[in-house]
Amino acid sequence: MAIIPLTPSSKFRTLLVLLMASLSMPSQAAPQASQLFQFTYPTSVENLFALPNGCLLLSTSANADLWYIDPEALYPAAQSVITLPGSIALSGFAALGDGLYAVTGSAPPKCGSESPMQVYVIKIGTEGDVNVTLDHTVAVPGTLSMDGMAALPEHPRTVLTADAIQGRILRVNTSDHSVSVAFEHAALKPGDGGNATAQGVKGLKIRDGYLYFTNSAQRTFGRFPINENGTNTSDVEILARLDGTPNSVSYGDFSFDRAGNAFVAVHPQSVHKITPEGAQSVFAGGVNSTFLEPTSVAVSNNGKSIYVSTAGIDSGFPITGGQVLRVQVEGTCT
Ligand SMILES: *[C@@H]1O[C@H](CO)[C@@H](O)[C@H](O)[C@H]1NC(C)=O
Ligand SMILES: *[C@@H]1O[C@H](CO)[C@@H](O)[C@H](O)[C@H]1NC(C)=O
Ligand SMILES: *[C@@H]1O[C@H](CO)[C@@H](O)[C@H](O)[C@H]1NC(C)=O
Ligand SMILES: *[C@@H]1O[C@H](CO)[C@@H](O)[C@H](O)[C@H]1NC(C)=O
Ligand SMILES: *[C@@H]1O[C@H](CO)[C@@H](O)[C@H](O)[C@H]1NC(C)=O
Ligand SMILES: *[C@@H]1O[C@H](CO)[C@@H](O)[C@H](O)[C@H]1NC(C)=O
Repeated sequence: MAIIPLTPSSKFRTLLVLLMASLSMPSQAAPQASQLFQFTYPTSVENLFALPNGCLLLSTSANADLWYIDPEALYPAAQSVITLPGSIALSGFAALGDGLYAVTGSAPPKCGSESPMQVYVIKIGTEGDVNVTLDHTVAVPGTLSMDGMAALPEHPRTVLTADAIQGRILRVNTSDHSVSVAFEHAALKPGDGGNATAQGVKGLKIRDGYLYFTNSAQRTFGRFPINENGTNTSDVEILARLDGTPNSVSYGDFSFDRAGNAFVAVHPQSVHKITPEGAQSVFAGGVNSTFLEPTSVAVSNNGKSIYVSTAGIDSGFPITGGQVLRVQVEGTCT
């Protein structure tokens, strides 16, 4: 049984013992994880997105190439399908409808007024060979950080993006290029935990009228009720925390299955499952697993597996690039 309840009161030692105990169990009890592809160092996979045809889009930190991989191929291999101009790294994805998708990109901060952050709107055709074209680019001024992204269900050409430094949710209308602050909140900020490298709000998803988020620095998973335009209509509700784990353990991006369970990438080595009631467990990975710094999770369209992107390892030996992993969901005890 690989499901370990984490209660906020768990002591670090208890957690480690539990993690170790789970790893000493017979392998058939743990969800089966396999690596589909690994990039070469220094390419990290920042995020991934399951297209309607089952293939995955991958964004990386190493350049503005967008990658595509068929996870069902006999020997899955990522192929670069477009290089987006004016960025050096790509991150979050959102589906805008009609074959259009948004992906965030960032350039090094520049002097002057030019924004380093942008939202690319791309068109993806999957008849025959995949065909990705750049539709247009929306500059997002006034921020140095955009990561997770979610389209508003009632206005899917407008996306919310996560400003992890200023602790805000930005609203970007990809039709008229207008950018506004949907709201700002202490629960989205890096916090005063003293860890200068950890940032605030990371992943974003909208489900049933709520905007769900992870905060890497505050080590929280929570939600806000929002209106059709993405503005909060009430205060935050924190659903899960990483209390009782070392400070280096932090949440990355996440995805929901149909039942509303969140599968959350957790640095440095695992994927946690958080039920709609907020019960949290280690779902996959763990100490000495093949998971090298998970960054994000995508649930497959049929719900039978989750895909995990990782950053890879840039210190110690061996250094490695980021991975794309598959974990079987079906047949595991829940
Ligand atoms: C992880 O690997 C290290 C080094 O090989 C080993 O000492 C340790 O016991 C392993 N931990 C677990 C939980 O397997
Ligand atoms: C790719 O899509 C673009 C825009 O939809 C279209 O103009 C172009 O002909 C397509 N290319 C191929 C090879 O199908
Ligand atoms: C986005 O801009 C378009 C064009 O101006 C407008 O019709 C639409 O209402 C805007 N969407 C939102 C959510 O404000
Ligand atoms: C959403 O924005 C539109 C356009 O600005 C506005 O007309 C509408 O009243 C807003 N809806 C809510 C619930 O605030
Ligand atoms: C939305 O969040 C803001 C910022 O924290 C807060 O001041 C406001 O009260 C919230 N809105 C509602 C309707 O609760
Ligand atoms: C600070 O946060 C980063 C990113 O989450 C993490 O890699 C690092 O280990 C943390 N540092 C400390 C001292 O906890």
